[in-house]
Amino acid sequence: MKAITYAGYGDPSVLDVSDIADRTVGPGEVLVRLVAASVNPVDWKTTAGYLADYAPVEFPAVAGSDLSGTVVAIGDGVTGFRIGDDVVGSVAPFVGAFSELVPVSAAVVAPKPRGLAFTEAACLPTAGLTAVTCIRAVAPQPGDTVVINGAAGGIGGFATQLARSAGARVIGICSPNSTEYVQRLGAEPVAYGSGVTSRLPDLDPATTSIVDTHGGEQLADLVALAGDPARAVSVAAPEIQNLGGRYLVVAPNGGDLGELTEAVASGRVEVAVAQTFPIRDARQAYEYLRAGGVHGKVVLDASSW
Ligand SMILES: NC(=O)c1ccc[n+]([C@@H]2O[C@H](COP(=O)([O-])OP(=O)(O)OC[C@H]3O[C@@H](n4cnc5c(N)ncnc54)[C@H](OP(=O)(O)O)[C@@H]3O)[C@@H](O)[C@H]2O)c1
Repeated sequence: MKAITYAGYGDPSVLDVSDIADRTVGPGEVLVRLVAASVNPVDWKTTAGYLADYAPVEFPAVAGSDLSGTVVAIGDGVTGFRIGDDVVGSVAPFVGAFSELVPVSAAVVAPKPRGLAFTEAACLPTAGLTAVTCIRAVAPQPGDTVVINGAAGGIGGFATQLARSAGARVIGICSPNSTEYVQRLGAEPVAYGSGVTSRLPDLDPATTSIVDTHGGEQLADLVALAGDPARAVSVAAPEIQNLGGRYLVVAPNGGDLGELTEAVASGRVEVAVAQTFPIRDARQAYEYLRAGGVHGKVVLDASSW
């Protein structure tokens, strides 16, 4: 079967379409015939070898993590899924999702609602669940303010919508080129970079929380906006813990993913697809995401190789 593989760490040019042995289903897994995938920063970081110290890959490695497709085999002990079900899920990036058949732990898979396109569904596991984790952690009440650093990104876009649907005001820190996009998501845009806090409106520390998806030199100033630093969370900068904030790591699970797919299918949350590439062009998709300035998710169409 075909897969997007790499034989050594490096920039996206290491990615190739190659033939690998068919992947098979193990206990507790479903085997998914891939229809669409999305690209996350963790995918190009894994291919680059940034995670090699604690999550090394075996070469040749299959790239990618988020996927949607159709179940074609069921492993021992799996209940709740049948052959022919359309599903969405993810694998660890060192396992790899960009292959015609992907074995996925049934615990992290959710049904794909009929009204949700495979391409949209594939955008949800990593960015969507990370946003859910962040917004759940800061738990905004109606009228509260959530400041989202990196509001135009994959996570930021979902986090903005989730905070808005909780009734919060959202200040979206983004690049000047993202102003209109962030406004469309329902946030008030503020340009990132030096002096960012001086560009923010007056905020009440008692009702302000921070969701950071970027880190950087302004992090301490941003955390200080929340009266209680426990209401400042980051998924990009572990050093937030030195400031009293919380560093969050997403734990994929099918239950939360199912809730998110339903929220999208019912129109409560929208998926912005920035660009869709044929899966054979995974290199270009990685480059496109890595270059920045992307508004929404980068999708790979795996309907043909
Ligand atoms: N801890 C976890 O469990 C977890 C899970 C998933 C992802 N992550 C990490 O979370 C980060 C964000 O992921 P993502 O999928 O949202 O990435 P993404 O789609 O590439 O978005 C990143 C965003 O950061 C913005 N940005 C760039 N420079 C900035 C600055 N100086 N200040 C504020 N924002 C800036 C970018 O804006 P422009 O493009 O306009 O410059 C972009 O909108 C990545 O580092 C990823 O590895 C962590």
